[in-house]
Amino acid sequence: MDPSESIDKKVKEILKPKLGKDFYDETASQGNMVRMGLNENMIVDGCVANMLLEEAAKRTDPRRYPAPKGSSAIKAISESLGVWEDEVIVGNGADEILDLICKVYVGGGEALVVEPTFEMYRFYIGLGRGRVRASMMTKEFGLDAEGVLGGITDKTKALFICSPNNPTGRQFSKDDVLRVVEDCDRLVVVDEAYSDFAPYSLSRESTRYQNLLVLRTFSKAFGMAGLRLGYATSTNETTSWLRAAQSPFSVNEVAQEMARLVLENNKIYEEWVKKTVEERAYLKAELDDVNGIEAFDSDANFILFRILNKDLRSSDVVARLKGAGFEVRDRGALPMLKNCIRVTVSTRQNNMRFVGELVKELRG
Ligand SMILES: Cc1ncc(COP(=O)(O)O)c(C=O)c1O
Repeated sequence: MDPSESIDKKVKEILKPKLGKDFYDETASQGNMVRMGLNENMIVDGCVANMLLEEAAKRTDPRRYPAPKGSSAIKAISESLGVWEDEVIVGNGADEILDLICKVYVGGGEALVVEPTFEMYRFYIGLGRGRVRASMMTKEFGLDAEGVLGGITDKTKALFICSPNNPTGRQFSKDDVLRVVEDCDRLVVVDEAYSDFAPYSLSRESTRYQNLLVLRTFSKAFGMAGLRLGYATSTNETTSWLRAAQSPFSVNEVAQEMARLVLENNKIYEEWVKKTVEERAYLKAELDDVNGIEAFDSDANFILFRILNKDLRSSDVVARLKGAGFEVRDRGALPMLKNCIRVTVSTRQNNMRFVGELVKELRG
């Protein structure tokens, strides 16, 4: 039997008894702690993920070094996206690619970051002694293209735009993002770690612009956070510079094989993305019904909400939720996000239980 047929059969066998049922996936919580703080994907079926992981392990030989610079994953990604292999770079998580971008493009110079956003941009820019210039998003969490373009100085080496943005959840309008790309001559990094859950992605278009790099990851939609595999698409020139600075074996062979397998089986992952989007709508509607908070619309696999009661602090609520077994992320210290908390969309059971616990904690 063709190996891909036998995998397809195994996936179906695992999922058959669960289809159409709102089963309780015990792998979606760990011990007594429900992890809803890191935007991991617990809607991907744990048994299918483990079966594919075993298959990926079987296809690798741990005595050998992995395909250099992630070349076998690059091949699978380029085929799936329809871009050339030399327009793709893969890394040990999207994080490694951010690190490479900062080393190669920012160095000790300045980078413009659209805030409030993912804090690792500041981390990697700071590692190279670079400086951050912040450009704030609009009050409605949109991209202020005019403000971004006006914030570019002689020293600006690169721009970081996260879309859908972590932690606000909104995807910026495509026109606004492309306006920034078209009207500036610096490298524009558009971090699309969450674009699988959103209306559009610029991955395929990225190679048409000299100065655009689009970053994606297998950690979110493909539930592979523990294996570490991220990728970016850009021009051959940009990916060559980044690859030149990358150590040869940073992407392990199991992650590369697993990437090939999940892309070959992407139909089932598309179903899980659809389910995540449905669960996000459910969680948002439930949060909208909770007194004393304001939940924001999201295009990602998490939702940001603000605690409106001035006598309550988001950090205290997060600590109390942790005591009750729910890990979520306090974002209240970020600019514009006073008293805000970010919660990952999880399985129906986890989402329901979380809202119940939140209501209890808000009552005090
Ligand atoms: C916006 C954003 N970019 C990049 C990453 C890093 O992804 P990876 O797990 O591939 O390193 C994350 C992880 O949470 C993220 O939220």
